[in-house]
Amino acid sequence: IQDPFLSGKSVLISAGPTRESVDPIRFFTNHSSGKMGFALAQEAANHGAEVTLVAGPVNLETPKNVKRIDVLTAEEMYQQMNHFFPDHDIVIKAAAVADYRPILTYDEKLKKQEGNLSIEMERTKDILKELGAKKTKQYLVGFAAETNDVIHYGREKLAKKHLNAIVINDVKAQGAGFGSDTNIVTFLSEKGFEKQLVMASKNKIAKQILELIDQELKDEAK
Ligand code: PMT
Repeated sequence: IQDPFLSGKSVLISAGPTRESVDPIRFFTNHSSGKMGFALAQEAANHGAEVTLVAGPVNLETPKNVKRIDVLTAEEMYQQMNHFFPDHDIVIKAAAVADYRPILTYDEKLKKQEGNLSIEMERTKDILKELGAKKTKQYLVGFAAETNDVIHYGREKLAKKHLNAIVINDVKAQGAGFGSDTNIVTFLSEKGFEKQLVMASKNKIAKQILELIDQELKDEAK
């Protein structure tokens, strides 16, 4: 282990998209590849943490020394995150969870019909907001994917979901956000600390995020 600054800490991370089915063939999802969350899991394990990774459907290898739980839907992610939440010191939600799912999932393939098709959607549970409401010892970090007024909306989510910190991606910036191997983010803590991290690989960004969290925890303990 290189610089085990997270040894003795347990870290729970969510990564990737969720998949909300219409029928056995079709589903709603988003462009998250899981790379950011997997990079966080790998860096946390490399620096001594005990890591649990709750992963949506992605095409990535499990990082070394990481316990991985695969889920498909927002509801399954909700169940697993709640299950593991009480035992972890640091919880980071890098997943891009579907905000809506079809009210009905058909058992058989939906047949083509004349005219347009409407699919009625309902809200999924806001996992992060619920964890924020029930947290005790945990240091809780959310991600925000925004396309405009990124700091403003990030700050709003930080307060509304009772987070300790939020990592904001401007998903429209070149080299940032969904699918890319690099990211550009701003880390904002509830205490008002703000740091912009310049474009770097998702692994380098992950390590910097973990160092900032560790620093915040050390400051709290003072
Ligand atoms: O996976 P990659 O391709 O590497 O891309 C990385 C990423 C861009 C997906 C990632 O860095 C990121 O920004 N993840 C959060 C994306 C997102 O869904 O943002 P949001 O603003 O919709 O949600 C804010 C926060 O609430 C997130 O921490 C999200 O996990 C959480 N949330 C959202 C909805 C919901 N129903 N439950 C949640 O917990």
